[in-house]
Amino acid sequence: MAKIAVIGTGYVGLTTGACFAHMGHKVVCADIDPAKVDSLSKGVIPIVELGLQDLVAEGIGGGRLSFVLGAANAAKDCEIAFLCVPTPQGDDGSADLSYIEAAAREIGPVLPYEAVVVNKSTVPVGSAKVVERVLGRPDVKVVSNPEFLREGSAVQDFLKPDRVVIGCDDQSAALKVSSLYDKISAPVIITDPASAETIKYAANAFLATKLSFINAIAAICEGVGADVNDVVVGMGSDKRIGQDFLRPGPGWGGSCFPKDSRALLKIAREAGYHFDLLDGVIAVNEEQFDRVADKILVAAGGDPSKLTVAVWGLTFKARTDDLRDSPSLAIIQRLIAAGATVQAFDPTVEGDMDEVQVMSDPYAACQDADVLAVLTEWDEFRWLDFERVREVMSGRAIVDARNLLDPAAMRRRGFEYSGVGRR
Ligand SMILES: NC(=O)c1ccc[n+]([C@@H]2O[C@H](COP(=O)([O-])OP(=O)(O)OC[C@H]3O[C@@H](n4cnc5c(N)ncnc54)[C@H](O)[C@@H]3O)[C@@H](O)[C@H]2O)c1
Repeated sequence: MAKIAVIGTGYVGLTTGACFAHMGHKVVCADIDPAKVDSLSKGVIPIVELGLQDLVAEGIGGGRLSFVLGAANAAKDCEIAFLCVPTPQGDDGSADLSYIEAAAREIGPVLPYEAVVVNKSTVPVGSAKVVERVLGRPDVKVVSNPEFLREGSAVQDFLKPDRVVIGCDDQSAALKVSSLYDKISAPVIITDPASAETIKYAANAFLATKLSFINAIAAICEGVGADVNDVVVGMGSDKRIGQDFLRPGPGWGGSCFPKDSRALLKIAREAGYHFDLLDGVIAVNEEQFDRVADKILVAAGGDPSKLTVAVWGLTFKARTDDLRDSPSLAIIQRLIAAGATVQAFDPTVEGDMDEVQVMSDPYAACQDADVLAVLTEWDEFRWLDFERVREVMSGRAIVDARNLLDPAAMRRRGFEYSGVGRR
């Protein structure tokens, strides 16, 4: 079993650390945030992620998982160090590598002889070389091992991935990293660093393309009186297409797709290719935020500055507490810009946000609201007491941007229901 350091204990780092510990490896996780390290050391995880709390407790209890402050403290005694730090969008759209470089600078001097450093963060093509240069350690090889987990099912995705991608020009380093996954039954794709780095961006851009595509089809469905849900079943039954990521909604967001699609545009430009298709995918997504915001205002009717909108769902998807680049927030911003008042509820969000009152229950969010907008697909929203919702609302309109509710049942209860691309 290997001695692993994981640098960064966010959604990816904490999942990586806890899962490797679960597989029997000895893992030390580092972060720069003292409060996070303190809380994790006590087994309390600061994020919502199914099954992760139990794995962290199991790892700590078994003596295979610990948390320290500062990357160097984790890396000084490891065979393999995983970089799981943020790569946010820079001013020009490219991925900002400053966190990666800072982490590499910290661990370079303390890494044991012939350790391996792994980029698990999503990094642009050429980043393995950047890390090599910053480490300044010719004995240390750098491997690209992009992560494909989805928030909300991160543990499951890590332990049962569709594939493991490893990019390295040094075969023994690649095999060392691939052996960490021996207990996982998934194809391991070993390639060069540039291809591994490209695979991650290409996969995210393709998924974003599917989502923008189905949102465009949903808009057409609304124009021609078709039902997008039936269209998806019909399209997706074709094995060449499949139904995954063909669910219409309020637009895509989250901590990855927006920044990664823009970073790929930049990578393409630098490579001399104008990726007009991806440009279009991003434009369709921005349009979708506008379309949904307009739909909410039109459904409520009247002067937007006098409207109260109840919003169910703030996170970028269900089963997470992550608000980064959430479509819900993009739409709320547009509603507020139009003058509306927004009262929101989300199962994982507490405390008011800028210009949005966050209520502690879904019915309070609906109090005196002209319209209810469902913006995140939390399953529990389907089972709420809609008689009570109707009683507390002043209007009758529901805009279900996730096609989560049953239109017939809503109409039977006296609501004016509209979804996305459905009758
Ligand atoms: N979140 C996802 O669903 C997902 C999926 C696949 C890939 N990724 C990629 O993985 C990377 C990490 O994403 P995330 O969502 O886990 O980020 P995050 O913001 O949740 O966590 C990053 C953590 O790194 C810590 N950190 C920053 N600099 C550090 C340093 N020098 N030493 C130690 N800790 C440091 C931060 O304090 C934070 O806790 C990004 O490149 C992202 O694009 C994310």
